[in-house]
Amino acid sequence: MSFLIKFAHQWIAGEDMEDAIERARKANSSGSGAIINFLGEHIRDKEEAQVNKNENLRILEAIKDNRINSTLSIKLTQLGLGMDYDLCLSNVEEIVGQAASDDIFVWIDMESSTYTHDTIEIYLSILKKYKNAGIALQSNLLRSENDARRIASSGGIIRLVKGAYNENSDVAYLSRSEVTVNFSKIMGYLFYRVPFFAIATHDERLIYEAIEANKAHQKKIEFQMLLGVREELKKELVNKGLTVVDYIPYGKKWLPYSLRRIRERKQNILLIFRSILDI
Ligand code: FDA
Repeated sequence: MSFLIKFAHQWIAGEDMEDAIERARKANSSGSGAIINFLGEHIRDKEEAQVNKNENLRILEAIKDNRINSTLSIKLTQLGLGMDYDLCLSNVEEIVGQAASDDIFVWIDMESSTYTHDTIEIYLSILKKYKNAGIALQSNLLRSENDARRIASSGGIIRLVKGAYNENSDVAYLSRSEVTVNFSKIMGYLFYRVPFFAIATHDERLIYEAIEANKAHQKKIEFQMLLGVREELKKELVNKGLTVVDYIPYGKKWLPYSLRRIRERKQNILLIFRSILDI
């Protein structure tokens, strides 16, 4: 377990919000923007939703007070989705509303396919009132191409990711190559259809494909990557004058997030196995 904690630490700013602010400051000083995320998902009661909402409001205040170039990213099951749809909607509305008055952008992370429909509904409903919010779409899901069309035609803003959750074949592409091809396809659509979107991948081929495509499209795009992943590539893109943004999670509930990071790379799984065998 202690190896796991140490290993996971590379992807997490720390346990406290101040740790995330410090990392965001570091990202800013190396030429990147930041996205701060308070870890936690699948809450069990309304009190927890309230605590999580308050923590997200505290992040907004800290971004403003510290004059940091950062957005906020939220997970809806942290704010009541899966338990009470209306409570979640009202929590998201309060956070995005506060962010609008502070001139801060809010990203809505996408969780497993169980929540895709409701997450998009909440996003589109928020979008009617506020424009400072965007949503992640996962290229591993069969439905995402249609979702991209629907969100784009509502004026929404998309962060395109491959998808970090285990899904099955009735809802998702399962092979890495299909997920990559679909990423490329949705990205191509977004280049034609929207003025701004985020490409959230560490896959160099997709990143360079986007850079190449944008020579013709001249859209506003940003490359978002996770804290602790492909730091050299981030520098390389910053040096090219591209917009790079570091996703910076913090908090005590680091395990589910870290397990997703471990699972998505064979080398990480092997390292964990080796550490267990060494005991
Ligand atoms: P891929 O997995 O093919 O990785 C490409 C290369 O990046 C690898 O070869 C390796 O070099 C490096 N790499 C990738 N992951 C690594 C790791 N854990 N450790 C070390 N190296 C690694 N998902 C989701 O379902 N909902 C969401 O809301 C989001 N949000 C989000 C925001 C941001 C800013 C990013 C970058 C990613 C997400 N994701 C996400 C996660 C995403 O879906 C995906 O699981 C990871 O980004 C890994 O996939 P890649 O696109 O990087 O490709």
